[in-house]
Amino acid sequence: MEQIVQQIEAYKQEIAAFQPKTADELEQYRIKFLGTKGLVKALFGEMKSVPNEQKKEFGQILNAFKQLAEGKYEEFQQLKDEGAQAGHELDLTLPAEPHRLGTRHPISILRNKAIRIFERLGFTIAEGPEIEDDWHNFTALNLAENHPARDMQDTFYVNHNPDWLLRTHTSSVQARVMEQGNLPIRIICPGRVYRNETISARAHCFFHQIEGLYIAENVSFADLKQTLYYFVQEMFGKDFKVRFRPSYFPFTEPSAEMDISCLICGGEGCNVCKHTGWVEILGCGMVHPQILENCGIDSKKYTGFAFGIGIERLTMLKYQIKDLRLFSENDLRFLKQFQGTV
Ligand code: PHE
Repeated sequence: MEQIVQQIEAYKQEIAAFQPKTADELEQYRIKFLGTKGLVKALFGEMKSVPNEQKKEFGQILNAFKQLAEGKYEEFQQLKDEGAQAGHELDLTLPAEPHRLGTRHPISILRNKAIRIFERLGFTIAEGPEIEDDWHNFTALNLAENHPARDMQDTFYVNHNPDWLLRTHTSSVQARVMEQGNLPIRIICPGRVYRNETISARAHCFFHQIEGLYIAENVSFADLKQTLYYFVQEMFGKDFKVRFRPSYFPFTEPSAEMDISCLICGGEGCNVCKHTGWVEILGCGMVHPQILENCGIDSKKYTGFAFGIGIERLTMLKYQIKDLRLFSENDLRFLKQFQGTV
């Protein structure tokens, strides 16, 4: 019996390795293992010479072997039938259709990368509606009606209701989170925003931002700078220069913009950096105390910083893309180039 069991083991290996290339080979297999004079039958014939007390064990081994041999046959028989149904001979050498995996959109790749970096600093994600009301997009953020800075962001209004608009920045989400009043706050708000701009290589009527907000006791401008230095280094490495420029936003005081030396031309001047060698990638500042009060937070006790990063800009720098319109044209030749892992 031991010999027979060894023999079965050898057949099992033969079956496992069996890959018929033609219908003929499959038929040969059937005759060898499963035919009326085949091996399975012959092995069952050995049953009578096995001592009674071993019959049960041997029977189990045989049955398992039979199932294996039949299973393999059916697997390829099915392929053959499918081929016949589809009206062509079975060609088992034909390579399988490769599974085409989609690729991530470059904006998503950069957004996810940015999220991961801020998550490492303890920021969590907050989201809000793209159709906003005037209060959260403007008024709560110190942009009262007729404030000249409203012109900085040409707004799409919703005809249906003059109080509704397409958010011009994700700072509106920050206003919503501040109103909830669960302090300290350490959030990032990724999302799509809309502005009525003429579409060109550098501007579009919609784009994406990640805005950040940190409010706690004793938050300083040094904390803001350190957070943003960390962010750009994690994002782009160390091979470039960074500068902060004083700026103005109604919701922060003091305010700044951060530029990095242009990664596309290496600072020599190109159309992406408007031939200055520098590209602005974000606006930031210390949250204006009036905004904290607008949202019911004690501005004597708490301070905070906020920043807003344009994801398109980051993506253009990272992948040397010179025209923003490519992001929304859905040209597969463009989209397939980006193999993002996050
Ligand atoms: N909300 C500003 C914009 O969209 C960016 C910003 C955010 C600036 C936070 C300062 C602080 O332009």
